[in-house]
Amino acid sequence: MTGIVTSPAKLSSHLDEGLVAVERAMLEVTDSQVEVLRDASRHILSAGGKRIRPRLLLLTYLALGGGDVTYVAKPAAAIELMHTASVVHDDINDHGILRRGRPSVNAIWGRTFALLTGDFLFTAVYELMAPYQHLNIDLARAATALVEGETLQASAVKNNTFTREVYMDIIALKTASLFRAAAVIGAKLAKADQGKINALAEFGYNVGLAFQIIDDILDIVADEESLGKTSGIDVRQGRGVAVALAPNGNGNAQVIDPVEAIKRKMMEGDTIDKARAQATLLVNSAIAKLRELPESSAKSALEELALMVIERET
Ligand code: IPE
Ligand code: IPE
Ligand code: MG
Ligand code: MG
Repeated sequence: MTGIVTSPAKLSSHLDEGLVAVERAMLEVTDSQVEVLRDASRHILSAGGKRIRPRLLLLTYLALGGGDVTYVAKPAAAIELMHTASVVHDDINDHGILRRGRPSVNAIWGRTFALLTGDFLFTAVYELMAPYQHLNIDLARAATALVEGETLQASAVKNNTFTREVYMDIIALKTASLFRAAAVIGAKLAKADQGKINALAEFGYNVGLAFQIIDDILDIVADEESLGKTSGIDVRQGRGVAVALAPNGNGNAQVIDPVEAIKRKMMEGDTIDKARAQATLLVNSAIAKLRELPESSAKSALEELALMVIERET
């Protein structure tokens, strides 16, 4: 198929086909002979998750006239695996015991195997990306940024330098970079021109920033059961959007137990509202970048994806 998908029914069948191929590719490439790696990978992958990054890649591709969703499934799977690896490692660092509604990999298999499972998922990305030589640089840069962001965050918490500016740098690196890579790779696979690639890069980046701000708000306001992951971690560790925006400078001075008392304090002022307003601005400017794209069901779905990021409750 070539040309832009215009009917919603066609879009939904293409997207579903692409997402099924993504699941298959992730399972195939993580089918290790080593039982722990295979079981732990299955555990985290089959728990689901929103699959927002592969969805973003597929929709970008379709919105720019691409038609072979099985061809783009491997890069989409690579991005989701990289993200999954990062949450497996993140749960070691954050002492998260619940992930995607299940006990985290470290809660079941312990730190050593969680570290190795994360490594395994990261390295599986090489195989998936091997046929897409020119796109490897986009994903490699996002991977580096992700690690830089997580490291900058840990340093800022340790050195008591968690300010609003540092917070924005952190979320740009640890989250927005991968969203941008998903959109850029989707656009490049569809052979889009440079103007459209740049527009989609900004779309992905701004959606990614908003996504992390909302994630940080949910860490404070939502309960673990609906989130399906350990919450309250940001407050406990002196980071996150509310800590960065909290009155009286950086939030580390306020890192005290009980966590609930701090949560309530942060929710009392207008901190959460301000953060939500910022996320909304980011999503609006992301949507504005889609002006460059011809009208299509996929373009509307990209808009919906961006809006879902600020409306989501889990
Ligand atoms: C969690 O990402 C890590 C962040 C960048 C906030 P998601 O919220 O996309 O996690 P899953 O994949 O749906 O579990
Ligand atoms: C993690 O940020 C972002 C990554 C890139 C792994 P968080 O620590 O806020 O993610 P969750 O809330 O544990 O999913
Ligand atoms: Mg975490
Ligand atoms: Mg979080």
